[in-house]
Amino acid sequence: MRSLLFVPGESERKLEKGLASGADVLIVDLEDSVAPARKAAARAMAAAFLADRSGEAGPLLYVRVNDFSTGLTDEDLAAVAKAAPHGIMLPKAAGGADVERLSAKLRVHEAEAGLADGAIHILPIITETAAGLLAAGSYSSTLPRLAGVTWGAEDLSADIAARSARDETGRYTDVFRLARAMTVLAAAKAQTAAIDTVFVDFRDMEALRRECLEAERDGFTGKMAIHPAQVPVINEAFTPSPEAVAEARAITAAFAGAGDVGVVGIDGRMYDRPHLRRAERLLARAGG
Ligand code: COA
Ligand code: MG
Repeated sequence: MRSLLFVPGESERKLEKGLASGADVLIVDLEDSVAPARKAAARAMAAAFLADRSGEAGPLLYVRVNDFSTGLTDEDLAAVAKAAPHGIMLPKAAGGADVERLSAKLRVHEAEAGLADGAIHILPIITETAAGLLAAGSYSSTLPRLAGVTWGAEDLSADIAARSARDETGRYTDVFRLARAMTVLAAAKAQTAAIDTVFVDFRDMEALRRECLEAERDGFTGKMAIHPAQVPVINEAFTPSPEAVAEARAITAAFAGAGDVGVVGIDGRMYDRPHLRRAERLLARAGG
């Protein structure tokens, strides 16, 4: 999951365009990009879109439902779960217990639709409320549906009454840098993917590229997008380079050749177990 493109669930045109965008994941949105009066129409359109593509090759199809506090989540799930999305994005998640709560609901839908138990994965947005951010450590590797964790700045600004998430130079202010960092830590703790948040200036490709490279450097393995033009930039930044793959292969080969050792030397540089772990993770991301 390098690129995850949001598509408003009520736009047939964008749903079709999203399929051709090259994104690894489409997130069909029933939440913030859909006006309250359009929720029912969006549910129906999203369900039809998923059902038409069930079993087809192409991007993974996720649905962002409305959060638990809205009272809309159950109707969202009732509409889309039977169409077998690959996953559900849960906004404003308040902690691991919310993932368990959604899992229990999905289990029922899967049973009723004849889907395998656990077929539908979960990707929570973990920093959209102060309570959620402070509970970032509650996600765990014992949540089998967890496909990753991601973060959001806009709703968090509203929750804490910040006027802006960024300073005058464009850099996230402290609370939002904390949210970003907690996402990387939560993902590592839960042994799942850390997905970076959206970049909203969708014409500014240079700034997007910079933000992607910083995210990749810091431990994120993918980023959400709001516009198809962002997808190639994100895919490139989160695809391990041939040089990085070659280096990782050299490290794993050196350890394999040395037997049960903790440290090896390659071309005059020391590599120990953390380097091996990092190399293995990079190769897993690169597909071997
Ligand atoms: N998915 C699929 N297609 C998209 C798209 C998206 N997220 N965003 C834009 N497109 C399509 C447009 O429909 C347009 O196609 P067309 O010319 O055939 O109609 C083309 O890409 C170019 O779009 P552009 O004119 O550059 O942008 P816009 O003004 O139409 O749309 C947004 C701008 C922000 C409204 C749009 O990108 C969007 O809806 N993004 C997703 C918003 C969202 O889901 N937010 C919730 C998560 S934060
Ligand atoms: Mg939101």
